[in-house]
Amino acid sequence: MPGPGMELIGEDEKKELLEVIEAGYLFRYGSPENPAFKAKVFKLEQEVAKRSGLRYAVAVNSGTTALLVALSGLGIGPGDEVIVPGYTFIASMSSIVYARAIPILAEVDKTLNLDPKDVRRKITPRTKAIMAVHMLGNPAHLDELKAIADEKGLLLIEDCAQAFGARYKGRSIGSIGRAGTFSFNIFKTITAGDGGMVVTDDEEAYKRFFAFHDQGHSPLRMGVEVGKRPFIGLDFRMTELTAAVLLAQLRRLDGLLTRLHTNKRRFKAALADLPGLEFREITDPEGECATLLTVFLPTEEVARKVAKELGTKVVADSGWHVYNNMEQILEKRTVTPEGCPYTCPYYKGGEVKYWKGMLPQTDDLLGRAINISIGVTDPGLGSGFGASFHDSEEALDARAGQFRRVALQYL
Ligand SMILES: Cc1ncc(COP(=O)(O)O)c(C=O)c1O
Repeated sequence: MPGPGMELIGEDEKKELLEVIEAGYLFRYGSPENPAFKAKVFKLEQEVAKRSGLRYAVAVNSGTTALLVALSGLGIGPGDEVIVPGYTFIASMSSIVYARAIPILAEVDKTLNLDPKDVRRKITPRTKAIMAVHMLGNPAHLDELKAIADEKGLLLIEDCAQAFGARYKGRSIGSIGRAGTFSFNIFKTITAGDGGMVVTDDEEAYKRFFAFHDQGHSPLRMGVEVGKRPFIGLDFRMTELTAAVLLAQLRRLDGLLTRLHTNKRRFKAALADLPGLEFREITDPEGECATLLTVFLPTEEVARKVAKELGTKVVADSGWHVYNNMEQILEKRTVTPEGCPYTCPYYKGGEVKYWKGMLPQTDDLLGRAINISIGVTDPGLGSGFGASFHDSEEALDARAGQFRRVALQYL
C-alpha cells in the first residue's frame, strides 16, 4: 500500500462519502438553507486551518496546484527567482516554472531538506522566495530559513506535501512561512486519491489564493460576482466527494502518527549500534511524521551493495525526486518552444544553467542514503524495503534483522 492513510480507508470514509452521494449535491458551494448541501469542503478547510493554528485554508485538487496557487497568489512571477532544494518532487519546481519564475536549485544537508548555508549562497537581487520542502515527513530547518527570509526580505513558502500532520517545535508545519501547501495523493499521510490545500494567516494572501483557485472570485462566493474579480483566475476547486473522504481521514491522523512513531522507534533502535551507520538528522523527533527511516552508509559503494541485496535502491537512484533524474528541468524543456520563463525579458539573471552533479553535497548524501519504509511504500522514493503500516512487532523485528545482517557484511 502506498501511504498510511490509504491503508485505513474503511467504514468512516464510506459513511462520509455516502452522506454526500445520498444527498446528491457534489459542488463545494451551496446555500446553507439547502439540506442537500453538506459543506464538506468548507468544513475540511476550517479543520485544516484550525489544526495548522492559522485563520485560512483553501482546498484545491492537488499538491501541485496548491503550490501554483501559493506562488502566484503571493505575487511571484516573471523576473523572480525561487530557491528550492535539489531533492524534492518535480512539482516544487514545475509550479515555479508555471508561475513564470525561475527555480534556483540548492543543496540539502543531513536533514535531506534545504541547507540554510547554501540558501544564503544562492540569494541574488532577483530572489523573491525560499521554498522549504519537508521531505519524507521531516520538517526542514524552519528557524534558520525563516531567519534568512526575514533578514533578506524574502517570502518563505512551505511545501508540506510529504508531511501533513508534522509539527516543528510545537507549531504545525505550514504555519511558519507566509503560506504552506499540502497534498493528499495516495502516498501522503492521509489521502483521498488526490487533493491539496493551501494555508496562511495573511488575509490578503487568502483572498488572492481563493481568487486564483476559482476564476478570480472572492472567498466562499455565492452566485455570480460580475465586476468584483481582481484578476484572471483558474479552476482548481475540490469537490465534496474528495473533502468527505478527507474529513474521515483527518480523524484518523493522530492515531496514525502515533503508530508510525512507535514503529519507527522500534526499527531505529534495532539498527542503532551498527558501526558506521548514521541516521538522517531529524529537526524535531517528536514532531516529524515518522513515515520513513533514512540511513546513511559510510560510502556510496557500501550503500549500493546493501541496497541491492535488500532489493531496493540508494536514494540517488530512486527516481524522480532527485534533480539529476529530472531531465525536463535539467534541459529546461518548457511546454512551448520559445522557452519562457527562461527567456523572459523580465528576467535579468542571464542564462540559467542546470547540470547533473551541480549539487555535490546533495549527490554525496543521496548516494549513501537508503530510505526504509515505516509506512510509505513509494518506488519513487526508493522505499522498496522496510515495513508496512500494519506490520506486527515480529514483522518489524524481522525486517530490521534482515537489514542488520546485510549491512554487517559490509560495515
Ligand atoms: C514534495 C512534494 N511537493 C508537491 C507534490 C505534489 O503533490 P500532488 O501529487 O498532489 O500534485 C508532491 C507529491 O508527490 C510532493 O512530494
